[in-house]
Amino acid sequence: MNVIDWAISIFEGKEISDKLLDSSIIDDYQYKSAKIDLSIPGRSKEISFSSKKIKFPKKIHLKEKSNRAKALAFFANHELEAIEMMCAALIKFGGTISDDDFHKLSRGVVSSIRDEQRHLSLYLNRLHDLGKSISDYPLNDFFWKQFEHIESFDDFFSLMSLTFEAANLDFCLFYEKVFYEFGDEQSAQIMRDVFSDEISHVKLGVYWLNRWRKDDALWDYYVSHLPQNISPDRSKGIEFSLGPRIMSGLDQDFLKSLVDFKSDFLIPKRKTNSNAILQNEF
Ligand SMILES: [Fe+2]
Ligand SMILES: [Fe+2]
Repeated sequence: MNVIDWAISIFEGKEISDKLLDSSIIDDYQYKSAKIDLSIPGRSKEISFSSKKIKFPKKIHLKEKSNRAKALAFFANHELEAIEMMCAALIKFGGTISDDDFHKLSRGVVSSIRDEQRHLSLYLNRLHDLGKSISDYPLNDFFWKQFEHIESFDDFFSLMSLTFEAANLDFCLFYEKVFYEFGDEQSAQIMRDVFSDEISHVKLGVYWLNRWRKDDALWDYYVSHLPQNISPDRSKGIEFSLGPRIMSGLDQDFLKSLVDFKSDFLIPKRKTNSNAILQNEF
């Protein structure tokens, strides 16, 4: 199967099983243009986006199984959105780079999608263990709705890899610790698994942005490619960790700028020591 056809099947597919379409069926990494509606991913009623807002549970409430299940449903939805946004990026921007670069880039993105599919399955299975399903919760479109603001692969990697996935490095470590604290080792182990893969997903974005930035500093290039309504603050989670960011290949100047960054954006500044961020954003 051609990689763009594969991405379209996932993007337009409505069921979870469509979103998990195995990448081993791809045997052609040639870009081909496709005129499809990228305004909203296919989602059946069970997993459709909802405007109904529910709050992410506070740390202290995660000692209750029902609240851990709710948190896992949020995480599962993030994986779904990541899969859909990565597929949409291949479809929308694949024709803007050379054939050789597309071959290489699409292999990298497909590898990330394969990981996101595995994470999605881990969360869904754990939800099942806890007696719940993703369709028991309203699902927000916070990540997806940023897609309309990105206009290139540079924007895409700045938003997805260096912002959302970088923040997830911190979130994974934080919730791994919290789940352990409340005796839920299985959920904690999933966070650790996701964390390990996330390092390579951030690395993928760093690689391509470094290729394209020419003489610009990575930080300047990154900031210039973020959608206007997204602050670099959103690339930080609850407890900021430098180690995984160094492992992802982010250079010292970038990290210094990130640590020193003071938001002058209108969005609420991330608080670094509470769950307020998640509650406010989702
Ligand atoms: Fe993931
Ligand atoms: Fe990821």
